[in-house]
Amino acid sequence: MKIAIGSDHGGFELKELVVKYLRENEHEVLDCGCDSLESVDYPDFAEKVCFEVRSGVCEAGILICGTGIGMSITANKVPGAYAALCADAYSTERSIKSNNANIMTLGEQVTGVELAKSLVTIWVKAVYESGGRSEPKIQRIYEYAKAHAK
Ligand code: RB5
Repeated sequence: MKIAIGSDHGGFELKELVVKYLRENEHEVLDCGCDSLESVDYPDFAEKVCFEVRSGVCEAGILICGTGIGMSITANKVPGAYAALCADAYSTERSIKSNNANIMTLGEQVTGVELAKSLVTIWVKAVYESGGRSEPKIQRIYEYAKAHAK
């Protein structure tokens, strides 16, 4: 799976570790920055990652900031991006299986490195339960997205 990943300065150190972890586990990673601890605006990096996913260049995206909240809010403003803030194993798995999210957000100030690696592993392995109980709700989300796209 090819994964786009991005962070602001608040998520930079965790991003570097997650990039390394994903590559060690044979995933193709497109690192969209940032590239240092220098202060940057997280919306710029959320947009880059969401565009890579929306265009089909990458199948999924991971965004990391201090809390994961700014990245999540921004990503969900990009048409075609469906972002879920992941901080525990159960919600992380359900974000794919029930919600068909294509962007995972993490908070470096909230989630420790080892938990973050576990969450990433759960997330990349999970598969959307297409046609299941959540399907009508997911279709409603797509309809809303279409209706409000103008
Ligand atoms: C720093 O800009 C900090 O606000 C950011 O990393 C994030 O926590 C926002 O949600």
